[in-house]
Amino acid sequence: FSSHVQHVKLSLCVLIILLSSWLANGVASQLTYEVTDPITGKPLQCDRCPPGTFLRASCSSIKERECAPCPQGSFTELWNYIGRCLRCGVCGRNQVVKKECTAISDCQCECKPGYFYSQDYDMCVRHSECPSGQEVLTKGTVTSENTDTVCSVCSEGSFSDISSAHQNCTQHKNCSDAGLQLVLRGSSWHDILTTCFLSDGAEYLKEIIPPFFIHHKMNIKRLRRIVHRLPSEDGRKARETRELNFSELHSRICSWVSSATAAQIQQLPDIVNKMGATGASEKLQSKLNSIQTHLTEHCQSEILSNAILS
Ligand SMILES: *[C@@H]1O[C@H](CO)[C@@H](O)[C@H](O)[C@H]1NC(C)=O
Ligand SMILES: *[C@@H]1O[C@H](CO)[C@@H](O)[C@H](O)[C@H]1NC(C)=O
Ligand SMILES: *[C@@H]1O[C@H](CO)[C@@H](O)[C@H](O)[C@H]1NC(C)=O
Repeated sequence: FSSHVQHVKLSLCVLIILLSSWLANGVASQLTYEVTDPITGKPLQCDRCPPGTFLRASCSSIKERECAPCPQGSFTELWNYIGRCLRCGVCGRNQVVKKECTAISDCQCECKPGYFYSQDYDMCVRHSECPSGQEVLTKGTVTSENTDTVCSVCSEGSFSDISSAHQNCTQHKNCSDAGLQLVLRGSSWHDILTTCFLSDGAEYLKEIIPPFFIHHKMNIKRLRRIVHRLPSEDGRKARETRELNFSELHSRICSWVSSATAAQIQQLPDIVNKMGATGASEKLQSKLNSIQTHLTEHCQSEILSNAILS
């Protein structure tokens, strides 16, 4: 019996020794670190420095360790014994500061407005735009959900003639509503063309040429050659287009359209065809033919009366 008691005592004793050594090496060492005392040459436990400070001077057997606050632009997050604080991070490309750096924490960054974090690129990228013919089903988000724009095709009877990250499709004009005559049926990328004032189909085509070149994406080199060959008013050759980007080419097209004569507009499908964009050329030509058909079917009387009036 007594040997049993002794055994229990012994176990308890071992447990206490284990516990205290665990405290010394485990929990306690999170707040201390070991150095060799420069005076005695023996190992010594120093206190660590608290977060927001760094170790300016180590302890010795005769003095405590000395901590100093992190200078502006640096931080320490943990109890430490490093000789200088860590430098605050810098937000990456397309990011903004979400939380400034403090002495005890590094800065936090997030994507700037209009951008979201893409795992594929490992960086913040701009929310996609929905091309013409489509609308924004859900807008892209920045912080919590971190998603890109979701697009959907314009529903029957509506259109979008621009590329946008927030705009919806617009309903086609209602002809019967306003007593208008249809000249060209609407599509997903352009509105209905109405009224019978103009006698040349090319004048109507003008309205859909700019959105046409947005909707029917073309190789930029081809588009440059097309723009270069657009017939000018006074027969001069178009200015150089070799360096132009898409938006500059589109603004060239817009200004050409606004001043072009009907005869020059008529040449466009042919120019597009000669530059090798056969499909686009056919689409333009078919729009033009369709306008012409509607004009002769629905507008004959009005054109005649306009001609008589003018
Ligand atoms: C676009 O349409 C959706 C529903 O189809 C609507 O919730 C949203 O407010 C619209 N956005 C704009 C800018 O009109
Ligand atoms: C167009 O207007 C007419 C007359 O107001 C109406 O009956 C018709 O439903 C409208 N159509 C569309 C597509 O809005
Ligand atoms: C196109 O070029 C113009 C002038 O060089 C520039 O201002 C514009 O940002 C460019 N656009 C795109 C989409 O790169």
